[in-house]
Amino acid sequence: MTTPWTLARRAKRLNPSTIREILKITERPGIISLAGGLPSADTFPVQALRDATAEVLRDTAGASSARAALQYAASEGYGPLREWVAADLNGQGLKVDADQVLITTGSQQGLDLAGKVLIDPGSTVAVESPTYLGALQAFAPYEPEFIALDGDDDGPLPDALDAACSASQRARFVYLLPNYQNPTGRCVPAARRLALVQRAAELQLPIVEDNPYGELWFDQAPPPPLSAAAGDGAVYLGSFSKVLAPGLRLGYLVAPRALYPKLLQAKQASDLHTPGFNQRLVHEVIKGGFLREHVPTIRARYKAQRDAMRAALAAHLPPGCRWQTPAGGMFFWIELPAQLDAGALLPLAVEAGVAYVPGSTFYPHGGHANTLRLSFVTAAPDVIERGVQLLAQVLDSALSGPLSGGNR
Ligand SMILES: Cc1ncc(COP(=O)(O)O)c(C=O)c1O
Repeated sequence: MTTPWTLARRAKRLNPSTIREILKITERPGIISLAGGLPSADTFPVQALRDATAEVLRDTAGASSARAALQYAASEGYGPLREWVAADLNGQGLKVDADQVLITTGSQQGLDLAGKVLIDPGSTVAVESPTYLGALQAFAPYEPEFIALDGDDDGPLPDALDAACSASQRARFVYLLPNYQNPTGRCVPAARRLALVQRAAELQLPIVEDNPYGELWFDQAPPPPLSAAAGDGAVYLGSFSKVLAPGLRLGYLVAPRALYPKLLQAKQASDLHTPGFNQRLVHEVIKGGFLREHVPTIRARYKAQRDAMRAALAAHLPPGCRWQTPAGGMFFWIELPAQLDAGALLPLAVEAGVAYVPGSTFYPHGGHANTLRLSFVTAAPDVIERGVQLLAQVLDSALSGPLSGGNR
């Protein structure tokens, strides 16, 4: 006899992440993975973390002792780190007090907490199309209906927000990624940002702004975050994953005072608090201005890899493929000729020795089978060149073979 476990409705909305499934395949030796958005491990500040570990674990007396670092801690986060985050964001034009900062276990947890606190079954959430798959996954168990916002190369269209606020359905929030979006790499220009914030304010539509890539600019810093103009109309999510190391699982959110207590209570219920040891470690690393020296080295590396991928795409991809060059972040977004299906081609690409993420998975309602995402941060420039070459061969043979049948 087997025990009949009955799944909650929300569990049925949990799906395996396409990207994580692909990452498993790409762990096979010999496959060039342009799929996962894994930061280059060469950028992880191992020595600085080692030194900081010794410091945090030094057995002194008082609040900074090793024992305090290993004790249960406040759900809001480690005070000095909250202060650091507030000061950093104030430098970017936000108006933030440290008591509005909630340290989270990666910004992914911030997405989950926003979903938990703001979404009821059947309520609507407006998202970019395409958008970050992990956000769709985080929100889905709370059973929203997604409204896909129309957009162009500069990001979502301000007027598209109107559709999220009709008489019959008012979205609980709009989820926006203005900087070097995952998956498309596009950065929203200043004027579009202001227009979006203004339209959202007119519609009284709250914004959840996700900004893990803002520091990864190549030639010039992006315009200020939406939250700088949106005041208490926005929740802002940030992360140390892309500027230090994702394995630390350290992110943060900044919430309006009216919302903060509920997010805090949701966090308490989820995990009591983000590991206090990691928080002290990161604070110890960054408190003296370490990121001012470190982040430019990441930018330089990723820019060189971006350039390598841009050159490889121009040299090898068949006519009919379209892409924009990202000015920061980690990704190229490729539109293939309409008759190609990136999902159907993936097994052939893996067989040829290269992996990518089919674009369809980033759309709230699927479709767009002729799109794919390439990451340029994990592989070295010569490997990127080889990977793109292999991808181009797969596309070339598909264009001259059966997968190009027009009605697939
Ligand atoms: C847009 C976006 N938001 C959030 C996250 C989650 O990042 P974290 O490591 O801070 O949880 C990612 C990770 O890739 C991302 O691309």
